[in-house]
Amino acid sequence: MNIKLHDKTFEPYLDKSTIEKRVLEISAEITKAYADEKPIFLVVLNGAFIFASDLLKQLNFDCEIHFIKLSSYEGMNTTGDIKTVIGLTENIENRTVIIIEDIIDTGNTLYHLVPELKKSRPKNIAICTLLQKTEALTVDLKAEFIGFEIPNRFVVGYGLDYDNLGRNYPMIYQLKI
Ligand code: IMP
Ligand code: MG
Repeated sequence: MNIKLHDKTFEPYLDKSTIEKRVLEISAEITKAYADEKPIFLVVLNGAFIFASDLLKQLNFDCEIHFIKLSSYEGMNTTGDIKTVIGLTENIENRTVIIIEDIIDTGNTLYHLVPELKKSRPKNIAICTLLQKTEALTVDLKAEFIGFEIPNRFVVGYGLDYDNLGRNYPMIYQLKI
């Protein structure tokens, strides 16, 4: 069933079981690659909160979970001005850091975050994103774990919002055109 948020209509795109299955696969990939590293997960708020919750519940090894905030978005277009990182109080020196993001669009947000984190000399930094609009990517950024590569069309639900609405839906909807 379609949903209406503000002035726009969104149609079902990725259903609950499709997302759940892929989240399980990613958790297995992360386990295989990083279980021995005692990684620090940095969850990028607000959008990644549901994805992170489902994903991290599947991991059965020592890891730390922290939350950071930064945003370059207002409404449906990237504003381009990158806000600073809020909330990183943890010492990440010599640690494996895995960034958990909801979606990579232009890539600008993470393109600026990664060098910011590198200043604190982590051992390495990996990116895990639920969604990537690969065609929209404008920077040299490579996520190690990608849930779904999606077309360049606005999506909401499962944590993602359109002007603060839509985060609560358990599946992902795409802007109806
Ligand atoms: P980027 O900096 O262009 O890669 O944009 C990344 C951020 O923009 C994401 O963390 C989201 O918060 C937001 N964003 C990008 N595309 C969408 C979308 O289709 N729906 C909801 N939020 C989006
Ligand atoms: Mg986000």
